[in-house]
Amino acid sequence: MNREEILEKTAEFAFSSCSSFDPGHDKDHLLRVKRLSLEIASSYFCDTFLVEMLAYLHDVEDDKFASHSKVDDFLSRLDIEEEIKTKILSLLPFMSFHKYPTLPGDFPIEGKIVVDADRLDALGAVGVARAFSYGGSKGRKMYGSSDSTLAHFEEKLLHLDQYLHLDASKEMAKERMDYLKSFYARFKEEIHDGN
Ligand code: ADP
Ligand code: NI
Repeated sequence: MNREEILEKTAEFAFSSCSSFDPGHDKDHLLRVKRLSLEIASSYFCDTFLVEMLAYLHDVEDDKFASHSKVDDFLSRLDIEEEIKTKILSLLPFMSFHKYPTLPGDFPIEGKIVVDADRLDALGAVGVARAFSYGGSKGRKMYGSSDSTLAHFEEKLLHLDQYLHLDASKEMAKERMDYLKSFYARFKEEIHDGN
């Protein structure tokens, strides 16, 4: 199987794996993360095949969705070099923000790229939509409780630019952060800060 075919099969596998996730973690999230990853990757010397594989697979094993070890089985069925398979499996656990908000300094560039791209997709207008989609899927309030979506803005999203690893991603995050902050300020205004 050539790399093109491997990527095609991997995309298919990842899209079907996330079909039961909330709309913020669907096929389109994977396609956005792939596109953002390749955009960041264009500023660095790196293995874009590995970047693309990680982008497709980064959420498959997310314990928010309680799936397990499906990637290992899938990669074993693919005709893929053992070395790349081992590398992918060793990097995937680090894709999660709640487990690894910051990556080890010597973490491979391909992993940093996909982690940053995933975080960029939690910012900007899409980030706002994803947060409410995720909160809604869990039956959470929009605001006014400690597990509300607005609380998630305060705890995580409004500081997410501090958890990016690469200069290219930090640059791309600027406009998205500004948008998120102005959305947050406007939202607070419209709800009269909960009063
Ligand atoms: P990670 O698992 O590394 O946090 P994901 O891409 O899987 O990254 O998911 C993060 C997305 O889910 C973001 O868009 C984020 O806003 C949303 N999300 C996660 N936790 C919450 C929460 N408690 N409330 C609202 N949105 C959330
Ligand atoms: Ni993701």
